[in-house]
Amino acid sequence: MISDDDIQIIHHLKIELHAKILAHNYQIPEVHAVADIIGDSLELALAARTTDAEILVVCGVSFMAETAKILNPEKRVFIPVPDAGCPLAEYLTPDIIAKYQQKYPEAAVVVYVNSSSACKAATDIVCTSGNALRIIRSLPHTTIIFGPDTNLAGYVREQVPDKEIIAIPANGHCYVHQQFTSDDIRTAREMGGMILAHPECPEHIRHNADIVASTGKMIQIITETDEPVWHIFTEEGMAKRLQALFPNKKFYSNKNAICRDMHKTTASDIIRSLQNLQGEIILDEESTRSARRALERMLKAS
Ligand code: 13P
Ligand code: SF4
Repeated sequence: MISDDDIQIIHHLKIELHAKILAHNYQIPEVHAVADIIGDSLELALAARTTDAEILVVCGVSFMAETAKILNPEKRVFIPVPDAGCPLAEYLTPDIIAKYQQKYPEAAVVVYVNSSSACKAATDIVCTSGNALRIIRSLPHTTIIFGPDTNLAGYVREQVPDKEIIAIPANGHCYVHQQFTSDDIRTAREMGGMILAHPECPEHIRHNADIVASTGKMIQIITETDEPVWHIFTEEGMAKRLQALFPNKKFYSNKNAICRDMHKTTASDIIRSLQNLQGEIILDEESTRSARRALERMLKAS
């Protein structure tokens, strides 16, 4: 639990530095308590683009802070815990993309935002879980090279059957979402209520869920649905966020579904980052130009 003193310190630092804190939905409650904007990957990218702050502190994992910096080269962007990464992003490299481009020269390359800046620079367009279907449908190509999440690729393949989706590499996945089991689904069904699953979940979970959605879309769906009980098949921080947003509803999640990197950031890290201007994202302009183009295409098509 964050102290009132820490809340005040962060509040004053934000005013003094003209800074804003952007936090992903999975962050721990004390980070949400001091955030200016809380959202999914797409919402954070859009917010980074529209805010007038001079300094952005991105509480999430490194690809989120890098995305904010790529889209705002004139702003100073900080990540309070620089080694908070996304293991899913590490499955893909520019070499793998190049290999498949050679094999399928007619295909478009779509890279999930959970990827390195170098991969974004090597792609035609980026997508998030919130806009993947829209992005794929917007492309004239019938063959799409898609990485690094094979589960999101599978979801897109099911929803956009007129396109051939080639998932690269063949084993890319998020360990947090991969661990859900049929027993988890069975238990949820016995308890009653609705099952909401993230598209990073494996096929057997997506197929048995009531709705598949990004974390941002989950909030929208729950707002619009008159159902008091929900089973959340994504990182467990999301269930905490939902419980705080909707105190009159009940949210259940698998307590083992913890993203170690998402839970690294604390209020003390934010204070340290703001006080010492520590954890700045520095990217060289030359190599990020292509990544910016791919991200801007995504925002335009969103
Ligand atoms: P969202 O964009 O849906 O929040 O997903 C990000 C993520 O890392 C999911 O694990
Ligand atoms: Fe990456 Fe999975 Fe953590 Fe999301 S939950 S940041 S995909 S490791």
